[in-house]
Amino acid sequence: MRVQLDSAGGLRHLITLDGLGRDMLTAILDRAESYRRIPGQPAYEGRELAGVTVANLFFEPSTRTRASFDLAGRRLGAQVVNLDLHSSSRAKGETMLDTIYTLEAMNTDVFVIRDSEAGMPEYLIDHVAPHVSVISAGEAHVSHPTQGLLDVLTIRSHKRRFAGLKVAIVGDIKHSRVARSTAHALATLGTGDLRLIGPPGLLPSEDEFRGAQRFTRIEDGIAGADVIMMLRIQKERMSQAAALDDAAYFREFGLDTTRLKLASPGVLVMHPGPMNRGVEIESAVADGPRSVIREQVNNGVAVRMAVLAAVAATLTRHRRPL
Ligand code: CP
Repeated sequence: MRVQLDSAGGLRHLITLDGLGRDMLTAILDRAESYRRIPGQPAYEGRELAGVTVANLFFEPSTRTRASFDLAGRRLGAQVVNLDLHSSSRAKGETMLDTIYTLEAMNTDVFVIRDSEAGMPEYLIDHVAPHVSVISAGEAHVSHPTQGLLDVLTIRSHKRRFAGLKVAIVGDIKHSRVARSTAHALATLGTGDLRLIGPPGLLPSEDEFRGAQRFTRIEDGIAGADVIMMLRIQKERMSQAAALDDAAYFREFGLDTTRLKLASPGVLVMHPGPMNRGVEIESAVADGPRSVIREQVNNGVAVRMAVLAAVAATLTRHRRPL
């Protein structure tokens, strides 16, 4: 794994939470908390990214991550360019690296990348100029670091302590970059009780998620849980033959109000989105009093502001003089 910090310990790139220390995670969460405004309050507006150009390159679909990186950059004073597969010359066969070099030539400082190819963010940080940063906005099934950060920010704002928490992740964990990143963040912050729940074919291999317990019955895994994170079945990452019947899946693994009673009374129900209502989660639970799903979305903007501000502060040390 490439180094994500510069020689002074500043955050230069963010492509994984694996290996980032507790102090760094806590500093990002603290800064995100200072940027957070609940819906109805005026959004934070600052100049931390004045003079910085951010290119959001989303070569896979996205609502939450793309919109929140766009808002995060603008609310801190950045110039922001948004490109996707259809609106960029990648649709004409241009390589990712040529797209990056083209935008670097236009003084882009920060690239936010979502791509289906594993290894792409790491490849790009080997090729960008010394004054340029790469932030992953979702890498294949591998990593989604800002989602992991917004998940732990949401948990922290309700639970305050990570040690002793019982966290259950339910669904298609095998294909989930969210589960991997959130598990890294939870482990770094001190959560030791992680339960992975799903059909045997959707649980990750034993060499991943070290120390986590595995369950194939949702009732067993969520018993007493303080946090339940539901995941979407990622049909786009599995063969048609492996795809599951939605109704049968909901019967076996869906979170409904009856099953929710098995968890701790103060349980938080989370979902990274996009949700498939009636497949992995019942609407009464998704919109119910234990749900923090919309808080996760709100925290997503604050976390992305904090990450952009952190890399911009590092980049100022590496910029060429006029
Ligand atoms: N959670 C998440 O990454 O959602 P989007 O795909 O909408 O960005």
